[in-house]
Amino acid sequence: MTTTRREVLGALAFPALGPLARLDARRGLSLLDEFEAPSGSPQQVARDEDFWNAIATAFAIDRSRINFNNGGCSPSPAFVLDAQRRHLEEANHAPAYVMWRRQQKRKEAVRQALARVAGCDAEELAFVRNASEGLQTCQFGIDLEPGDEVLSTDQDYPRMRNTFAQRVAREGIVYRQFKIPVPCDDPQQIVRAYEANLSERTRLILVSHVINLTGAILPVRNIVALGRARGIPVIVDGAHSFANVDFTLRDLDCDYFATSLHKWLFAPIGTGMLHVRKDKIGDLWPLMAGNPGQEHDIRKFEEIGTHPIAQMLAVGEALAFHERLGGSRKFARLVRLRDLWIDRLGAHDRVHVHTSTVPGQACGIATVSIDGVETGALAAHLERAHQILVTTIKHEDFEGIRVSPSVYTTLGELDRFCEAMEAVVRDGLPS
Ligand SMILES: Cc1ncc(COP(=O)(O)O)c(C=O)c1O
Repeated sequence: MTTTRREVLGALAFPALGPLARLDARRGLSLLDEFEAPSGSPQQVARDEDFWNAIATAFAIDRSRINFNNGGCSPSPAFVLDAQRRHLEEANHAPAYVMWRRQQKRKEAVRQALARVAGCDAEELAFVRNASEGLQTCQFGIDLEPGDEVLSTDQDYPRMRNTFAQRVAREGIVYRQFKIPVPCDDPQQIVRAYEANLSERTRLILVSHVINLTGAILPVRNIVALGRARGIPVIVDGAHSFANVDFTLRDLDCDYFATSLHKWLFAPIGTGMLHVRKDKIGDLWPLMAGNPGQEHDIRKFEEIGTHPIAQMLAVGEALAFHERLGGSRKFARLVRLRDLWIDRLGAHDRVHVHTSTVPGQACGIATVSIDGVETGALAAHLERAHQILVTTIKHEDFEGIRVSPSVYTTLGELDRFCEAMEAVVRDGLPS
């Protein structure tokens, strides 16, 4: 007897917590296979609530709180976590033998799967622990002389800006940061801002594909081209773009790209990837020294001493889930969720959205503020009174709460968030 889509949904009684516990984590992908493949454009599938309700059941999360900080770090589907656990248990039988003789080889298959999704050669892709490690490999690994300038906006991620600040203090380089508009509807304005801030001494550019403060998508391909035309390397911070925005590395045509996989790929915590174009590997210093003969081998960036391989192997399950979802459908769904709450809250005069809703200019992450309501106090109120988790964003030029729902977010949860925000618009924060 074949199970219909409705019967499976009924059996899971989404989104009640009890039945979720019945979901066999190892069946995660096969469960999804029992559903009719959704048809239609990504925008049509983005509205197919049955499909997304089914997707949501892959995550064994606690629905007694509403997690709208998936940008910080995402939960993994249950079967991804389960795979990680299995690999870890396997390693524990004889760690040195299992990790280095068996799991290390299997990691190569995951590298190939990841490269296929990322759109690059597997020999250009290193496993790292997070975006920070991958980006710092590039930020520290490119030689600079005292007086050489590096360039970024003042909206790049603080740790990445601190990395350049350390090179300023230690090596006497110059770090120039400039402003970009918020929100920004016109990518050309951004490209012009980068161009205007280049100088004779610019030797390196850092650009965020997605700005973590607002969810803005920057025109990375154009900025890479701008740098390349002048012989300036461009490091792309893809922490929030990979497996979120629908693109491949070929589209960006970049030489250096790093991302975390524990954000939007839903891979285990502590996984990331570094992409370095083949002919650039030799000249990029690793953070920890590689072995002799590894100078042109992407694996030199993985010589970090003893570390678990289990979570990297479980990236394979996360990739399978991502491909089952489809990158374009996932992006369309996340943008739809954003538009639903922005359309509703944006109707209030005192509500300000700091994220563009022009198609293609931002992802499903967005930042919002209410006139006269302090941002930190608003975030604290949402958590205390409603168990809604958001991120407090404070920048010199704007502030607000950052809202980053995910594919497992229900429309009911969005409603509860909107109701809580509307109550604050109407009555202010409780004293
Ligand atoms: C734009 C950006 N870059 C880099 C990072 C660092 O990511 P991780 O802490 O996973 O290394 C983050 C984290 O949120 C980010 O938003």
